[in-house]
Amino acid sequence: MIVREILVTSALPYANGYIHLGHLVEYIQTDIWARAMKAQGHQVTYVCADDAHGTAIMLKAEANGITPEEQIASVKASHEADFAKFLINFDNYHSTHSEENKHFSELIYRRLNGAGHISTKDVEQLFDPEKQLFLADRFVKGTCPECGALDQYGDNCEVCGTTYDATDLKDPYSTLSDATPVLKTSKHYFFDLPEFEQFLKDWTRSDNRLQTSVANKLQEWFDAGLTSWDISRDAPYFGFQIPDTPSDEPDKYFYVWLDAPVGYMASFKNLCDKRAGTENELDFDRYWMQENEHKTEVYHFIGKDIVYFHALFWPAMLAGSEFRTPTGVFAHGFLMVNGEKMSKSRGTFIKAETYAEHLHPEYLRYYFASKLSDKVEDINLDLEDFMQKVNSDLVGKVVNIASRSAGFIVKKYDGMLSDVCVESELLEDITKTGDAIAAAYENREFSRAMRLIMQCADKANEYIDEKKPWSLAKQEGTEQEVQDVCSVAINIFRQLMVYLAPVLPELTANAKEFLNIDDLSFASRNQWLLGHKINKFKPLMQRIEEKDVAAMVEASKESLAQNATPVANADNISAKKNTPSAKEADTDTNAEQADYIGIEDFAKVEMKVAHVLECNHVEGADKLLQFTLNVGEDQPRNVFSGIRKFYEPEQLVDKKVICVTNLAPRKMKFGVSEGMVLSTGDPKTGLTVVTLPDDCVVGDVLA
Ligand code: 2FM
Ligand code: ZN
Repeated sequence: MIVREILVTSALPYANGYIHLGHLVEYIQTDIWARAMKAQGHQVTYVCADDAHGTAIMLKAEANGITPEEQIASVKASHEADFAKFLINFDNYHSTHSEENKHFSELIYRRLNGAGHISTKDVEQLFDPEKQLFLADRFVKGTCPECGALDQYGDNCEVCGTTYDATDLKDPYSTLSDATPVLKTSKHYFFDLPEFEQFLKDWTRSDNRLQTSVANKLQEWFDAGLTSWDISRDAPYFGFQIPDTPSDEPDKYFYVWLDAPVGYMASFKNLCDKRAGTENELDFDRYWMQENEHKTEVYHFIGKDIVYFHALFWPAMLAGSEFRTPTGVFAHGFLMVNGEKMSKSRGTFIKAETYAEHLHPEYLRYYFASKLSDKVEDINLDLEDFMQKVNSDLVGKVVNIASRSAGFIVKKYDGMLSDVCVESELLEDITKTGDAIAAAYENREFSRAMRLIMQCADKANEYIDEKKPWSLAKQEGTEQEVQDVCSVAINIFRQLMVYLAPVLPELTANAKEFLNIDDLSFASRNQWLLGHKINKFKPLMQRIEEKDVAAMVEASKESLAQNATPVANADNISAKKNTPSAKEADTDTNAEQADYIGIEDFAKVEMKVAHVLECNHVEGADKLLQFTLNVGEDQPRNVFSGIRKFYEPEQLVDKKVICVTNLAPRKMKFGVSEGMVLSTGDPKTGLTVVTLPDDCVVGDVLA
């Protein structure tokens, strides 16, 4: 057998937030794959790291009153603890804020620069004069230039869907300080992606490096035309300084997405150094030098939202700096829970830590395995199905095989299995199925692998049901038969443990003790356990209790209410604006994306009958009207509304309207807005303020 040398990675999580079940899809997928390939005899190295740079992490540290270094150290420790709970078996877990990463980021940059792939250009951007920093789109809000909707982010309007530049926003303000941003120009460094167009077109379409749907998506980007990539950021920025810039110019920093994928190399290099001189020594050059490209394999597992970075920028950066490119980039879809996007209010935005406090991580590993394929499809964690499937497949089918037969062997035969297999055809069939299971693992068709394994378990249970060792044991002269039947069952159970080991490392390690064996590699299934002594059986897995799932959901509602939402990674989002398919690229597994709300959410909105005491134009704001409203409180409220295009103020004075009264007050350039007046219609073509009959009582709550 040829032993393949494989390096595998999962995307590096940002060091400003916790790990949640959405992240775990990928780490569990990669871990199962790495374990399965190891079990098939290959030399597999699995590395990862925290993605530690960028504005969001810098701001998060500031908000927490600590240094960025303290921030990333504490998050790294919590990430590592979470991954350990879910049995993610990294060979190395490093950080992008490391010496190795600085070295390779600088090396790659210098080689790209030396080869003429870097250029500079002045860029005009919004700048926060109070915080003294350039504002990524997510840190600017203002009035939509198209429809006049208030409070829209700097990249697109959530009301009318228009995409625009942050500089197009009307009445912009910084979400960091509320200050009005000013336009400021600074020099930026660009990586010349268009120079790599032909290389990338060939690369993305050859050697099965990418899934077909991913290659097709990239074609859309080629069709729209590649553009140069802005790889620099101005101070203040938490990252590596760009080397060799003119000494009389301000320092520039690598944009976080430049050094993030280099983190894969850096973590591997760190591991090579740790292992130097040991029997597990690894040769960095063998995995990363261009001339060794065909000797070793490098695979990146990623989410579908970061394909652009891994299948365009990263291979171009590597090729341009004379490193090898990845053998494959495997994208997966997002996680849905109960058929919907994860939601904090429904308690389905579940932290890894919260899950592990209530349920065994192997339940989730198995459930994800039963859902995952080689496709870029979203997967659904249906909590009812999750309970049902784990209980029926793992407890009811698999563990049951051992619990039904081990007792007889241990009590009646002192733990000894029969010397011969009386059902060699059945056992051969199950041993042979191992080939298809191994292939399914390698092809990332885990759901197929799980189906094949459960079919084997069904065969074992049918066999036991047919032979009924518990009845046989009560009869005279059946001693040998009972031992033989139970030995067949135990042997099939052993094969199932081999097949499930990549998914259930803890359960199968315990089973190894019970079976008194020291190997669960795929090859080991060919040696059947004959005349072999097993140990006493201990329960290997408990059923999932409904109350534990309910408690986890409940705790997720609480834990997220107590913990502030992690700062959205503004760096990520602004980078993706270059992509023709910006909307899709912006979808972040980390962000809550509840598109439905529950009745409890709706009930939170307080709407009251309001009497318009005054309505006026606002000087300097061509979209706004200012209202003074009586909503039945001691003081009238001041509310701004973007409807000036459709009304003269006097048309609205003395009307009864609907005001949302518990909207957080918002500081605007013209004053504080203390609510919202409801309108209907299309902000582009016409809005109509909803008015109520005169006899409605001011201050009454709408229900
Ligand atoms: O999207 C993310 O969460 C990034 N932190 C992934 C980085 S992967 C690699 F390129 F470093
Ligand atoms: Zn709009």
